[in-house]
Amino acid sequence: MEKLLIQGGVKLFGEVEVSGAKNAALPILCASLLTPDKLRIRNLPHLQDVTTMLTLLGHIGVDVELDEKMGVMLSGANVNRLQAPYELVRTMRASVLVLGPLVARFGRAQVSLPGGCAIGQRPVDQHIKGLEAMGAEVEIDQGYLTVSAHRLIGAEIVFDLVTVTGTENLMLAATLADGVTVLRNAAMEPEVVDLANCLVGMGAKISGAGSETIKIEGVSALKGVDYAVMFDRIEAGTYMTAVAATGGELLLRGLDVNIISSLVSKLSSAGGEVHSEGEDLLLRAPCRLNPIDIKTAPYPGFPTDMQAQLMALNTIADGTSTVSETIFENRFMHVQELKRLGAKIEIQGNMAVIQGVSELAGAEVMATDLRASAGLVIAGLIASGETSVGRIYHLDRGYERIEEKFGRLGAKIRRLSN
Ligand code: UD1
Repeated sequence: MEKLLIQGGVKLFGEVEVSGAKNAALPILCASLLTPDKLRIRNLPHLQDVTTMLTLLGHIGVDVELDEKMGVMLSGANVNRLQAPYELVRTMRASVLVLGPLVARFGRAQVSLPGGCAIGQRPVDQHIKGLEAMGAEVEIDQGYLTVSAHRLIGAEIVFDLVTVTGTENLMLAATLADGVTVLRNAAMEPEVVDLANCLVGMGAKISGAGSETIKIEGVSALKGVDYAVMFDRIEAGTYMTAVAATGGELLLRGLDVNIISSLVSKLSSAGGEVHSEGEDLLLRAPCRLNPIDIKTAPYPGFPTDMQAQLMALNTIADGTSTVSETIFENRFMHVQELKRLGAKIEIQGNMAVIQGVSELAGAEVMATDLRASAGLVIAGLIASGETSVGRIYHLDRGYERIEEKFGRLGAKIRRLSN
């Protein structure tokens, strides 16, 4: 199994190229199920989750043609298998995103239930509730969810909680439904807006994406589109946090800084200097940062996907901080690993109390989920001596060439396979 070996304690300086957003790419790829026409999707990140989604779409019958420049041509003209099997769904929960478009266009879909997940239960009841409100029949048998509807009918759906893929799944479904669908308490994440923009390019009638209420007027058919995926705000945030934690300097280009404002304001209150001009962002950090309190929340709140990285930064901040996780119930698995590096953290329910220490010391640690792994890499970059991060297949799901990108910033980091 591969691992990352890091010689920490080096200040990071330079520029990183931010990839396309994984969490926007996954639902956008599923839009190919809505039309027999061709979709050209550009700025795809080169990641395991994207490969898994393309494999799943290929299994369903989408013709997938990769081009050399992070682009893909998709044709849903020959879709012939309306099913997402367990082997694929268990490695990537976002596979459930094929459900809405398949039912909308073909009247039926079967998707394996995602099952438990390292960061909590993560049920799909809201996806099911929405499809039922649109007239679908849902059966659960032998671990599979079978959804059928002659034609989905527009409905008013109020989510009980904010769900990102739930909002996306129902938005995809509603584009081809009969009549108007209104999604209330919808997720406002920028990736939901990116999907809506792509769907509008295909001829969908959607308004309100990015607000709590999204209105979708169903159309009888959608057409192809050429669309570039937005930048990955979590990847950008991970590099910003790593550079801030080492007291270095970072230039990022091609971002919409408004989208990462919750992180920018946290890093600024930690003592970092952030300057932005147009789509460029420059971050400069002092040697030691102030501690920052964080409470995760749906967008525009502080993203749960940045929680582990900020916790790593807080471990060596000048004082005590708290990190509260309100989205997922089991997302502190990195805490035990951070403690192996000398961090002082105590968990109190859904809150971690972190007492900053002056230094972390390298050790062997193990990645447990995607973003927790990113937190461990940052801790390894801060720590003196050598840190090895095991089970990095988690990292490869969401970070493109992470050792290469950190290497360009001056980090001593390499991948070992054993
Ligand atoms: C998406 C992101 C993930 C991010 C998360 C929260 C993708 C591919 N993944 O995951 O990186 O961490 O948003 O920002 O975009 N829930 C239910 N019932 C449901 C659906 C969700 O109870 O039917 C709960 C979940 O258990 C969780 C909360 O709602 O506690 C938020 O989950 P959700 O927004 O759905 O996360 P994902 O869309 O899976």
